[in-house]
Amino acid sequence: MEPSLRVAADILRAAPSVACLTGAGVSAESGVPTFRDAQTGLWARYDPQRLASPQGFRDDPGLVWRWYMARLTAVEQAQPNKGHLALAHMQERWPGFPVITQNVDDLHERAGSTHVIHLHGNIAQFHCHQCGTAHTLSAEERRAPAPPICKACGGPVRPGVVWFGESLPADALAAALEAVSACGVLLVVGTSGLVYPAAQLPLIAKRAGSRLIEINLEPSPLSSWADVVLRGPSGEVFPALLDASV
Ligand code: APR
Repeated sequence: MEPSLRVAADILRAAPSVACLTGAGVSAESGVPTFRDAQTGLWARYDPQRLASPQGFRDDPGLVWRWYMARLTAVEQAQPNKGHLALAHMQERWPGFPVITQNVDDLHERAGSTHVIHLHGNIAQFHCHQCGTAHTLSAEERRAPAPPICKACGGPVRPGVVWFGESLPADALAAALEAVSACGVLLVVGTSGLVYPAAQLPLIAKRAGSRLIEINLEPSPLSSWADVVLRGPSGEVFPALLDASV
């Protein structure tokens, strides 16, 4: 067994409580492109950080709407991978095991995780950009080239995700802060650690005395804080870590 995997397994085995922070890398093996992967096909020439912003939506609501409808279709066609499934199994050993995710897909839930905290919202939920009224999308609206109009105020409907420059949902952030402050071990998986406040959570955990285990394909700004780094795809490393920690 790889020395780093053995060290991580020993840390996990002894953990009184565990939490996990996931990023787009966990969904990558399900075919959902990460945020910083080059956008593919039609979207290659657009900057995702521009599309995922209030300014981008104001400038061209139709373009942003079509981008999100394409991403929503990709998420619906994706299946949870072995990394999602291994995470879901962890709640059998650590009841209430919180999965704090930056991902806007529902793959953790579809894998069986029941305590998921969505820091950046959910791509399959919609509300009015102007008055916040929740909106249930019709099949016709789903196919339309421009966002639906809010029935309450006439404003444009938008996806329920957090855009650049917007605040995170206060309840999700509070739950995430509580989870990382109370866990013995925090698993940090498939995130570039570039976007705040999510990227602050591992540092808060560390300062509260947690051990950090990072799983990523490549180094991140969080790697230097980790007690152990497991370099590889989460769909392979996660199940191996779980098996080795029994
Ligand atoms: N297994 C593990 N890690 C992976 C895998 C994989 N199969 N594939 C990619 N990664 C890693 C990459 O090395 C990178 O560090 O996942 C990370 C993906 O980074 P980002 O695309 O920046 O995704 P994320 O960290 O979730 O971005 C945070 O920023 O763009 C906004 O709101 C968006 O939620 C997103 C947030």
